[in-house]
Amino acid sequence: MPWTKATAPDRCVRDAWVVEPIGGREDGAMSDHAARHWDDVYSSKAADETSWYQQRPATSLRLLSDAVASTGGRPGSVVDVGAGTSSLVDELLAAGWAPVTVLDVSAAALATTRARLPEGAEVRYVVSDIVAWQPDGAFDAWHDRAVFHFLTEDAQQARYVAAATDAVRPGGVLVIGTFGPGGPEQCSGLPVARHDVASLRARFAPDFEVLAGEVEVHRTPWGSEQQFTWATLRRT
Ligand SMILES: C[S@@+](CC[C@H](N)C(=O)[O-])C[C@H]1O[C@@H](n2cnc3c(N)ncnc32)[C@H](O)[C@@H]1O
Repeated sequence: MPWTKATAPDRCVRDAWVVEPIGGREDGAMSDHAARHWDDVYSSKAADETSWYQQRPATSLRLLSDAVASTGGRPGSVVDVGAGTSSLVDELLAAGWAPVTVLDVSAAALATTRARLPEGAEVRYVVSDIVAWQPDGAFDAWHDRAVFHFLTEDAQQARYVAAATDAVRPGGVLVIGTFGPGGPEQCSGLPVARHDVASLRARFAPDFEVLAGEVEVHRTPWGSEQQFTWATLRRT
């Protein structure tokens, strides 16, 4: 993916190397509202005041590592979709993944991540609604924890899968974690669509096939439990 100059300065991370403009309201896109909502969240709360906070993204790291091992690959290029301020990017770099692309609808979230990472880190920043994103590169891996479930409309989910299909090279992997059937019905005041492995399999077929699935119970910083469904898929 080539570096490009920012074309929408009001939505850009300051001095970011790559910032893609947020797309308009097409094919179920919800960019402006989502950007405002999530910028407000990240401007008003500390990371450990959010329900999705985790000190170390252990499940994500394990599943990405297992996925490349099971497909005979090695850590390579990866995009973390809806990365927020997660430390996953730091951990991925330490584990040899590069370049790491962090995409989020919230410029505020990515600005926090960029301020934390060392100069020269092989990281690309993309401010975009995932529903409007048009990737122009081939990634070895795609990761999403707690983003897909905010797409409650069929058209939005179809756009997400189309973006993933364009972004992940054949044989590449996709690791996704969403609220499970027993998980919350809302997050951050927004409705969610909950999934099990079967519904993810159906949604991502035929461009992806499921390699593995599991259930995780996430404990929020204030001790409540949230059921997650995790699936590892391979691009066909
Ligand atoms: C629940 S948080 C999870 C953050 C991170 N993945 C983690 O595990 O810590 C959801 C993230 O998705 C981002 N997000 C929500 N809807 C999005 C969309 N349509 N496109 C891109 N990012 C989105 C939010 O800004 C937020 O950072």
